[in-house]
Amino acid sequence: MERSKFLSNLGLGVAAVCVGSCVSACGSGALYDTPQPVVPAGTSLFTVDLKTDLVNVGDSKIVGAVIIARIAAGTTPNSFSAVEVACTHLQAKIKYDVTQNVYVCPWHKSIFSTTGQVITGPAVKDQKKYNVVITSTTLAVLT
Ligand code: FES
Repeated sequence: MERSKFLSNLGLGVAAVCVGSCVSACGSGALYDTPQPVVPAGTSLFTVDLKTDLVNVGDSKIVGAVIIARIAAGTTPNSFSAVEVACTHLQAKIKYDVTQNVYVCPWHKSIFSTTGQVITGPAVKDQKKYNVVITSTTLAVLT
C-alpha cells in the first residue's frame, strides 16, 4: 500500500471512531462533559427560621425550585408542605390556596394536593414532594 493511501485510510478510521464516540455520548443523553456531583438524598436545600417565617397557617414562600407552605399550626413536619414550584404541565409557578388546602396553578388551573399529587388537570404528572425536618425553630427542606 502506498504511504499516502495508508495515511488517508488511517485518517478516515480515526474520524469514524471520533464520530462514533460523539454520537454514542449524545445518544446516551449525556448533558455534561464531566461527571456532576451527586447530591445525596436528605441533604438540606435551604432552611427557614420559624420564629420569623411561615408563622401563620397559609403562609408560603418560594425558595429556588421549591414552594413551602404552612398548612397547619404547630411545629412538626406535618404542619408544612414542600413541593416543586414549577407546575408539571407548562412550568408556571403554583401557589398555595389555604382555603382549599391545595396548590393551584394560575395558568390552566391544575390543582395539586399538599403532597404534590394531581387532583385536577390538565397536569397529569405529580409535583415532586420534599421532606422537611425541624430542629428547634429551624426547618430544613431536604433533597
Ligand atoms: S402550567 Fe400549570 S396547569 Fe398549565
